[in-house]
Amino acid sequence: MASEGKGREQPVTEQANPLSSSIDIMSPLEMVSTLQACDAEIFDGWQDFPGMFDERIQKNLDRLVDIANPSESTVIFSGCGTSGRLGFITARTFNSWLREQGVKECYHSIMAGGDKALFTSQEAVEDDPVLGARLLQEAAEGKSHVLFFGITCGLSAPFVAGQLDLCLQHLDRFTPVLVGFNPAHMARNMPIANWNKTFLQVIKDLEAAEAKGQGFLLNPVVGPEQITGSSRMKSGTATKLLLESVLLPAHGKSFHQVSLSLREGGHLYYYSAGSGSLGIMGLIDASECPPTYGASLDDVRGFLEGGFSTLGNSDGDLSHLGPHFQISTDDFTKHMVASLSAKDLVIFLCKEQVCDVDQRIMGSGCRIACVVVSTSQTPSPPGDQDKFHVVVQLDLSSVSQCPVISGTGLWKWAALLYSELAVKWTLNAVSTGAHILKGKVFNNTMIDLKPSNVKLFHRAVGIIQRYSNLPVEQCRDYLLRALYSTDTLTEDIQNSPLAQHIKIGASKLRVVPTALLAALLKRPIAEAEKILQQQPITRQAVLASLNQQ
Ligand code: F6P
Repeated sequence: MASEGKGREQPVTEQANPLSSSIDIMSPLEMVSTLQACDAEIFDGWQDFPGMFDERIQKNLDRLVDIANPSESTVIFSGCGTSGRLGFITARTFNSWLREQGVKECYHSIMAGGDKALFTSQEAVEDDPVLGARLLQEAAEGKSHVLFFGITCGLSAPFVAGQLDLCLQHLDRFTPVLVGFNPAHMARNMPIANWNKTFLQVIKDLEAAEAKGQGFLLNPVVGPEQITGSSRMKSGTATKLLLESVLLPAHGKSFHQVSLSLREGGHLYYYSAGSGSLGIMGLIDASECPPTYGASLDDVRGFLEGGFSTLGNSDGDLSHLGPHFQISTDDFTKHMVASLSAKDLVIFLCKEQVCDVDQRIMGSGCRIACVVVSTSQTPSPPGDQDKFHVVVQLDLSSVSQCPVISGTGLWKWAALLYSELAVKWTLNAVSTGAHILKGKVFNNTMIDLKPSNVKLFHRAVGIIQRYSNLPVEQCRDYLLRALYSTDTLTEDIQNSPLAQHIKIGASKLRVVPTALLAALLKRPIAEAEKILQQQPITRQAVLASLNQQ
């Protein structure tokens, strides 16, 4: 069986960042500066690869600013996981700008897995190119010209490959743009189930279209993630920046304006008090924790004032789908407050000044913190900061001095986008730090991921291989043994389709650490499971096992 990148150079987005290789043993302050140092590579570039300011990327951005005319084109964003969610929030923000101008909305987003994937991960859909193409076809029905942004940080998602391919077959109606963060030659070149092309083949067609000005590849290299492969972080930030670098000036032109809680077994809640899209950044951050860190759906959750009506998703209120779809702050008060304990942390997301806190939340004994984003040059009264254990002030008022955005009307929207970015950075740091402190990271590799789609299955095999140095086939066997909790891989298991393994991988806990430990110690799976039960902090368990050998 082929593995991710076997015999080929490891894609940059899957490489380990040397700057964060000891993040698992850093103090929280060191962690934050390491996150910042890695983020700086988004702007400073990485090794000799073309980065954000590369001439080709900048030229493509300029061309796209001309093409993205909101009164002439329909713009569709699509992606899986955080890539799809960032497309959603971009469409949402720029549609409200259009509404405010009295102009018809032109932005749409497609999220692999539908609306429920906006805040609960639905990994398996990522592997389906046919579904991706069908959903794009439906969204584009009746539109004369569609500017399509397919977002896949690793240049790997089949869902997006299917959509780009559809666009490339109909260049008279579609202008495809691929947003990702690897050099083109590192795009995934593995067969895609039920399809006849690899991602790399689609990119070759896109490059041919780019040469004729009919398609665009926005793929600056921003360096490996702080936590290996966690593309919600730097790649997510860079996605947001690239999309906004096209749309902010395009709109300007058109309108002539210019964890400790987690470690102790508690929960982390983001509570958006009237902060609109900042609360959506909370939902986005929370939704990546299960696939990235094997967290449960309850560990990190986001709540939004106004719930689905603030979210503005196309399927409307989804709260009937179950407790994890109850996302309003009213739901939080109704269903969550009674079970809050001193182990839990509630982070309030506020604009301009700290918000009021419901007496029931205050009385629960949980920890409360506040992130306040202020963009106004006339500071608001600080509010009652004493009730919070921590207040983080994000003061963005000075950005309004930037000459590019000082024109009439533009600052308001730029301020919103900067606020979202500042909140994204802050919450990414909070949830990443919390999971590191919980022991989910070994060196800078997220070791406890759920092998719940093809990419994650191969990433899991790669992790076992990296630390055990065993041949890939043996690593895959260890992964299967951990998945099926057995040391005997029957023919039935061996011959089961990958989809079957992935189905089990989506729900089983601590599969990769168990497989790795068994591989390192050459011990039965049951024994590895037992060791991890006694020492759930993965690094300690792995190190202790190595020391005992
Ligand atoms: O499948 C998990 C994941 O890696 C998420 O972390 C990410 O947001 C999503 O896949 C999409 O990945 P990509 O942007 O590379 O297609």
